[in-house]
Amino acid sequence: MTDRVGPGAHLLVTGGAGFIGSELVRQIMARRDGTRITVLDKLTYAGSRANLAAVEGDPEQAARFTFVHGDIADPAVVDPLVADADAVLNVAAETHVDRSILDPEAFLRTGVIGVHVLLEAVRRETERARAGERPAAPRFLQVSTDEVYGDIPSGHSVETDPLAPRSPYAAAKASSELLVGAYHVTFGLDVVMTRGSNTYGPHQHPEKLIPLFTTNALAGEPLPMYGDGMQVRDWLHVSDHAAGIDFVLRHGASGEAYNVAGAKLLPNREVIGLLLEAAGRDWSLVRTVPDRPGHDRRYAMDGSKLAALGWAPHVAFEDGLPATVAWYRDHPEWVASARSGDWHSYYERQYGARLAAGRAVEQPGQAG
Ligand code: NAD
Ligand code: DAU
Repeated sequence: MTDRVGPGAHLLVTGGAGFIGSELVRQIMARRDGTRITVLDKLTYAGSRANLAAVEGDPEQAARFTFVHGDIADPAVVDPLVADADAVLNVAAETHVDRSILDPEAFLRTGVIGVHVLLEAVRRETERARAGERPAAPRFLQVSTDEVYGDIPSGHSVETDPLAPRSPYAAAKASSELLVGAYHVTFGLDVVMTRGSNTYGPHQHPEKLIPLFTTNALAGEPLPMYGDGMQVRDWLHVSDHAAGIDFVLRHGASGEAYNVAGAKLLPNREVIGLLLEAAGRDWSLVRTVPDRPGHDRRYAMDGSKLAALGWAPHVAFEDGLPATVAWYRDHPEWVASARSGDWHSYYERQYGARLAAGRAVEQPGQAG
């Protein structure tokens, strides 16, 4: 396997203009080992060519890089790109749980139809390899999420646990996984899957908790905390998440899924406290607002399957969070661009009534 995805390989990375995809592309290209990458990205509100500036602005990397603007659900675009690839890394998805509650359709189109189009293309190339028409079949890596396990009141999810998604986003991700598994069993495709935990770091669209609260805090705007803020997430720095995906691509066993677990389980209130400290703000900005419908209370994964192969995350949350807050402070143009387009109508639809119903939150430690 290492030969097919090692130095000099040609990788097709879908969703490579997004948060995690662009970090993956930057990391692999910075190795300067001859690997070529083609990014296929639809450039939805969440994707930005600016996230790839470090690659496209470096002559040596740019010579090994191609950007294609297109949809993974479009076979006319996908088929020739897969025909030319040694491996396909599907990072593309609609990714925000709250948007999936407002409008689920795009999640299914990309997460189910799009994944099917990619798998059909990989299936064709696998058959061509079997017929001796290309040297080897492409490996397919599906980037998935801990949300497929559903709410985990206690303990830690292991890879053999049943999938129990509870939001339209998580259901689309679980559907993708089921399709990928079926193509492995039925058609013998070489597939691997990663289930990453909550990821944070530079270049994340400011709709998600950490970048939303950071950019709002820096601007002195209210922070809409859902419910009691005691929901627990397992935080993973984006550089670790991308490294975990790259590791599974090269070392994962065919047909297997791997948890890419985070370095820190924390309730949202603690994340918010650390974030306010890093932004130089206080709890007066925080509002408790009506909760997300079907809100998963806790995610927690057991990372020992990937650890047994020799992989572990490196960035401590206590270091990664302040560095992330500093990145958003230092990149106002990036933030302004991400908050353009449909941002204001989305924000009003998502938070208008919630913030109107919101209440101030007692600063921890000062409750009576
Ligand atoms: P993101 O929203 O920042 O980026 C998604 C990218 O996919 C964007 O560049 C977008 O333009 C592109 N895209 C969307 N639909 C497309 C389509 N039909 N065709 C081509 N491109 C399309 O997402 P992210 O946070 O970087 O997440 C990347 C992947 O990692 C997703 O599969 C997500 O489910 C998974 N994941 C994310 C997290 C997290 O905390 N962010 C955690 C675990 C897993
Ligand atoms: O767990 C992995 C998943 O993490 C990824 O698969 C998803 O793509 C990614 O969006 C993320 O999902 P979450 O729903 O956990 O992340 P989000 O940043 O939306 O929310 C994190 C927590 O913060 C969650 O408990 C909801 C809460 N929250 C979020 C927002 C946006 C708030 O309290 N207020 C908010 O405004």
